[in-house]
Parts: sequence; structure tokens; C-alpha cells
Amino acid sequence: MASALGKPYIGGMIEIAIDAAREAGQYLRESVGRVRRVETKQGEERNLVSEIDKTSERMIIDAIRRRHPGHAVLAEESGGSGQGAEYTWVIDPLDGTTNFLHGVPIFSVTIAIERRGEVIAGVVYDPNLDELFTAERGSGAFLNGQALQVSTSDRLITSLLVTGFPYDIASNPSHAVEHFNHFLMEARGIRRLGSAALDLSYVAAGRFDGFWEVYLKPWDMAAGALLVREAGGKVTDFTGAASHIHCPQVVASNGRIHDAMLAVLARV
Ligand code: IPD
Ligand code: CA
Ligand code: CA
Repeated sequence: MASALGKPYIGGMIEIAIDAAREAGQYLRESVGRVRRVETKQGEERNLVSEIDKTSERMIIDAIRRRHPGHAVLAEESGGSGQGAEYTWVIDPLDGTTNFLHGVPIFSVTIAIERRGEVIAGVVYDPNLDELFTAERGSGAFLNGQALQVSTSDRLITSLLVTGFPYDIASNPSHAVEHFNHFLMEARGIRRLGSAALDLSYVAAGRFDGFWEVYLKPWDMAAGALLVREAGGKVTDFTGAASHIHCPQVVASNGRIHDAMLAVLARV
């Protein structure tokens, strides 16, 4: 079977992820301003969830289960199921919840497919710009079917960086505030979009040169990290060791500024 990217892919699983992400993304876009009930999560007043996140997740899981009832799922709102299966679908049904709730049109749906602990495919869909980022391991990264390449900036002062903050930022976990301050002094500029999946997709697309964040969850970064690697970039933890989706720290870059980013992070 040929994939949506024109390459052979066993079982066409990425097509299922693409269709589910598009369908959920469309639902999110139509739901802006129509939220009925917002709750806080884990006792964090900044960490919000609404019925829209949950419905989006239900739609995605139902679409996967119809085709692959035996696969495992790791999803932000409903947790894990089917442990021990060969394949796990890692899902964030709405990445950028705070933006969504405020009507800021920067949010995404992200779905990754893991095979025995290794991410083999990833999809990030931005329904506001109708941008679909896709990657399959070893086959490159794409935006709406066009091949992606990371940027060529090789100094922090010519680099536009992006970051995010965990919901408990008030406790300054892992010196997140100091890291931000140092990058602010060193880089051309820093952005905070509010969707880690889009942050990583934009590094893959060469729009940003680098990204860092602490305490992301597997569903925030699984697809995005694959996109960066497949676009020629580098993804590690703060010490430079290869990172995995359960890693509490992530640095993703075009590769050329990676050591300079690690040096800044090593200062505190
Ligand atoms: C959040 C976003 C944000 C990042 C937070 C994540 P959510 O995900 O990705 O950019 O800074 O750490 O929790 O809660 O909107 O799905
Ligand atoms: Ca998220
Ligand atoms: Ca989410």
C-alpha cells in the first residue's frame, strides 16, 4: 500500500493518524468559543481541560480502534490501555489548550505511532492554517506533502528559538526561568507559541532554529521529535544524550546550534 506521502508503508497506519488528526482538528476549529465546561487538572489552576479535549480524544481513539482494536493507546486525557501490544498510539487531542480556551488560533492535534518503544510515524495537524506535518522513520518529514529541511543558522545570535513552560512554572522547575533569561540574552529572539507539537514542527520546517522545554509529556513531543530528526535536526536531553519520549527535558535544533544551546543550559 502507498502512503499519503507516496511511499510504501506497512498497513497504512499513518493514513489513519492523518485522517483522525484532520477530523479532530476540524472539530476543534469549529468548537472555538463554544466551550461549556472548563476544569482544572492535578490541582494546578493553570492546567485546564474542557469537554472539547475529551471529545477530540474520543474521536481519535474510536478511529484507531475501528481499524486496530488490539493496539495500545497512550492518550493525555484517558491515559494508557493495551500495554504489551506491539504498537502504541500516542495522542494529544488538543495541544495548546490555553490558547484554544482564549480563542488564540494556535493549537494542534498530534498523534504518533510507537513500535516496541520506537516512534515510527508522527502527525501534527494545525487546523487553523490547514498545515499537516507528517514523518515516517527513515522517510523524511513533510508539510502538506512538501519535504522539510531544518534551518542553517549556526550561531545563537542569528537564531530564532522557541520554548514553553510547564504549568507549575511558579516553582521554577529545573531552573526554567534562568534558562529562559540566558537564551533571551544570547538569541536573536524567543517565541512561546503554546503548543509544543507546533514548536517542534516549526523547527523541522526551518521556521525556528531551536526549541527547549522541561517536563513535556510523551504525547507533547513524540510526533514532533520524529519530525525534527527526519528533517535533519537533532533531539537530545539537556546533557546531549539521545532523548526518548519519556525524557523530562528536550532540546531540539537544526543540529548546528545544538552544542551552543546545551552550553547555555549547562550554566545553571
Ligand atoms: C502544553 C503545550 C505547551 C507546553 C506545555 C504543554 P497542552 O500542552 O504543549 O506549549 O508549554 O508544557 O503541557 O496542555 O496544551 O496539551
Ligand atoms: Ca500537550
Ligand atoms: Ca492537550
